[in-house]
Amino acid sequence: MNWRIDAGDQTIALTAAAGLPFVTYWGPRLPDSEDLAQLALAAQNDLTGGMLDQLPQITLTPESGRAFQGQAGLVLQAADGTPLHPVFAFDHAERQGQTLTLVSRGDGLTLTHRLTARSTGVITLQTTLDSATPVRVQWLAAPVLPAPQDGDIIDISGKWVGEFQLNRTPWTQGIRLREARTGRSGHEHPPYAIFAGQGCTNTQGTAHALHYAWSGGHRMVAEELPDGRRLVQFGHATGAETATGTRFESAELIAAVSTGGLNGVGALFQSDIRDRVVTWPDPARPRPVHYNCWEAVYFNHNLADLAAIADRAAALGAERFVLDDGWFGRRDDDTTSLGDWVVDRRKWKDGLNPLIKHVHGLCMSFGIWFEPEMVNPDSDLMRAHPDWMLGPADQVTGRNQMVLNLALPECREYLFHAISTLLTEYPIDYIKWDHNRLLPVVDAAQTRGVYELLGALRTAHPKVEIETCASGGGRIDAGILQYTQRVWLSDSNDALERLRIQHDAALFLPLAVTGSHVGPRHCHTSGRVLPMSLRAWVAAQRHMGFEMDLRELTEAEAQTLSRVTAWWKANRDWLTRATIHRLDSDDTAVVAEVQVSADTRRFVAFAGQDSTSRQILPRPLRLTGLDPAARYRVHLVNPEDAARQSRGPNALKSQDLTLTGQTLMTRGILLPVAWPGTMFVVEGERV
Ligand code: GLA
Repeated sequence: MNWRIDAGDQTIALTAAAGLPFVTYWGPRLPDSEDLAQLALAAQNDLTGGMLDQLPQITLTPESGRAFQGQAGLVLQAADGTPLHPVFAFDHAERQGQTLTLVSRGDGLTLTHRLTARSTGVITLQTTLDSATPVRVQWLAAPVLPAPQDGDIIDISGKWVGEFQLNRTPWTQGIRLREARTGRSGHEHPPYAIFAGQGCTNTQGTAHALHYAWSGGHRMVAEELPDGRRLVQFGHATGAETATGTRFESAELIAAVSTGGLNGVGALFQSDIRDRVVTWPDPARPRPVHYNCWEAVYFNHNLADLAAIADRAAALGAERFVLDDGWFGRRDDDTTSLGDWVVDRRKWKDGLNPLIKHVHGLCMSFGIWFEPEMVNPDSDLMRAHPDWMLGPADQVTGRNQMVLNLALPECREYLFHAISTLLTEYPIDYIKWDHNRLLPVVDAAQTRGVYELLGALRTAHPKVEIETCASGGGRIDAGILQYTQRVWLSDSNDALERLRIQHDAALFLPLAVTGSHVGPRHCHTSGRVLPMSLRAWVAAQRHMGFEMDLRELTEAEAQTLSRVTAWWKANRDWLTRATIHRLDSDDTAVVAEVQVSADTRRFVAFAGQDSTSRQILPRPLRLTGLDPAARYRVHLVNPEDAARQSRGPNALKSQDLTLTGQTLMTRGILLPVAWPGTMFVVEGERV
């Protein structure tokens, strides 16, 4: 039996005989005329000395019971702990709509592999295990794919204020293992991988990419077998299923393939997150410019200051005011009160209504911060329910806090009630949902509990948007994005760091969900002082906001900020639907991207100068993603940001140019000489 599943420019072909089905092809779309039986035959390997007389296939779940020499896709024990090595036989296939379901059975177990072609061009893959008797699962991989034979592995590392760092490593025999064991998708090993073919750059070459849609920690195994074959597995972190059971499920693995370089998979993931994964309470509502008060006042909340800051925020163009940490319990610092989700009447003697009224009077909506999964030992909640804590009693705290056990229905109910009460009492249209410590244990039930709580709140308050934050970008994945509409990409408001983080995160995330704020002049996380123009334009590359005491702005800074904000608001409708393409910059000191509208009629290029170039003059910036035959009028939005020493006849400083997409993509545009810490913004519109 042979099947294929196609989505966009991608094909996965599979075959099955007696054993479990396996993938015979994963890559760029095959012609409709491809003979799948011939394809399966063509995928058969030879044998030589030192091998078994039959090559174990890389099936959708490689079986230890069939002498598969690599990592098994299922590691299982009986309820009493006895290791099991089941073998499966293919049973039947079903096709329903865009979903192909392959069912296999063996030893009292059923393995179901589900592959779905999504209209956004990705294919999602999921494995389910059913057992007649309770079993214990150590590891259950989403359907296992053969990895490309050429090129490198790109996966992601990161840290607090340093998210989304790309690692490009060559394949070698053995395993590349990335495992997030901190109970969240994490800063350290977020669940993304790209297999970049030979010569693959941002703009050219073949790329295969995967994103595991799960927030609770995961494991990626990219393995090259001794025979040279390669495979990749994604699943929950090992041991995350802590209880015996009769049904286990991987999360969905999202697969994308492109022959247009890394940008091709970036475009697929961006649209998949924006148009499929995220559900928008009001899709027609433009993304509002945010104001967040964290780096302005921290825990020092008072009406007079926040109202004065709100006045400035609104005058500069903000449309949503978010009250961050510090409004509840007796939260004067980070040592107390998480769990006590009641307005602190010492700071807010008449509740939040006076502030909300003020904010609404300025035509801004109102949002608020919660960290629902956490509890401080010094809190009424912990005193009342010490048994709700997750993990051992003598565990080390993280940011002075513990984690609540969200697998407990009564704990979820308490949180639902506490949050829902506030959402009912006050006109709140937005939650910043934080998660600031590593979990003491790895536990998939915790993640399911969070999803359930989020789902219940979404159902009860469908108009409320939610932002996912975990000390910045510690929980950014397509699992949490099913319940949320924005990510707090990083606690770094340092515009140069942000420029880089945003650039790399664009391989996976669209503008529509990526929060980016203008921080204080003196950056609180790096100590650096950067010009307002850079800070404002970097925020304007994504979902824009401000996060600082706006009363510190000079007149000139305020003017720049309100000009950039007005630009963003004038353009956000098409920008929100645009594709972000990373540019192959010929100058390592320049980090550049172009955002191209869905109909390629307009674009904006951002060229960030993050350090001083080695050569004297700027190298041309080669754009991408344009219509080669179209002519574009090219306009430098901010010539005033040229270096003071820029004294030559660079045309864009004083006039627009009309050039074809072809020229813009091959010869590129020449910009004025730039100082480090500046960013040029170039608009283009088809004429
Ligand atoms: C985390 C978040 C910040 C802020 C603080 C509040 O660190 O990442 O943005 O909300 O918590 O305590």
